Amino acid sequence: MTLRHAPWEEAGEFRIGLAPIAASAWFEGGETDPSARKDPLFEGAAAPLVWAETGGSRPAQAEVLALVAEAIGRPIETQGRPPLYAAARCVADDLCLMEKRDGHWRLSALSLSAGSFFTAAEVIGRSLSELHRPVTGFEDRLLARVTRIFDGLRDGLVLERRNWSVVSTPELHMPDPGPMRAAIPAIDPARAAQVLHVRCERQTLRRLPTTGGVVFTIRVWVNPLSDVAADLSRLARFAQAWRTAHPDFRAYKRLELYDALVAPLIDGA
Ligand code: HEM
Repeated sequence: MTLRHAPWEEAGEFRIGLAPIAASAWFEGGETDPSARKDPLFEGAAAPLVWAETGGSRPAQAEVLALVAEAIGRPIETQGRPPLYAAARCVADDLCLMEKRDGHWRLSALSLSAGSFFTAAEVIGRSLSELHRPVTGFEDRLLARVTRIFDGLRDGLVLERRNWSVVSTPELHMPDPGPMRAAIPAIDPARAAQVLHVRCERQTLRRLPTTGGVVFTIRVWVNPLSDVAADLSRLARFAQAWRTAHPDFRAYKRLELYDALVAPLIDGA
């Protein structure tokens, strides 16, 4: 599989990193039928992990639906589904709706089929500050700037950022990293390049002109480390990122759990 994004080449620390992209590039595609992956989660026992909405969010949800339908170039029937979910099942991305309530940008609805270590039930209703409590320094260094970006988003502008981590599974739906982490000591070092994966989230922000909300999209791309190692200059840049990542960033992503497996792969790179 080709590597679509390599954000470790840009940053090994927490940063905003938002850049404008063309509205036509809002969704990257790459998945034939996202509903086949998302519907079983939404309709089954995992429902509270992958879907949540608050009262009063339906008008903004419907606005997201209309924007997504325009972006994919075909109408979307809700067939009784909440509008945000009806939109989310047509794209590979997860869709998070932010609305300003009591002076704070809050998550008013979300479809989170590929959540990275959090669940819809946990985060629904949270403000930007509350969402980012576990991220060291977010409140002091980033919150005011991120809030200003949300407040000042212009209609039609789409902003993109990427983040990255290393995990030991290609699974997209990862509400709880506990079982994955517990299994790390049993990984055969000879298979590390196939078992370890770079997990990259490509996120976008876009204002909803009518309701004044903001839609935050999250597309998760997962590649085995062997895809990085296949290109020596790319591997060298990954090795550099691994060795120089900020201590807070390493601790948050639990990169130390993988050090013994990654070290032989990047040795000499
Ligand atoms: C666009 C502005 C935003 C910026 C700059 C930002 C930044 C960050 C950063 C730096 C992290 C740490 C992981 C990483 O990305 O490397 C993070 C984690 C997270 N962000 Fe954001 N974020 C933004 C918007 C949002 C929005 C709109 C949501 C709502 C769903 C959100 C929910 C989260 C959650 C749930 C985490 C994981 C926190 C945990 O570990 O429990 N972020 N964010």
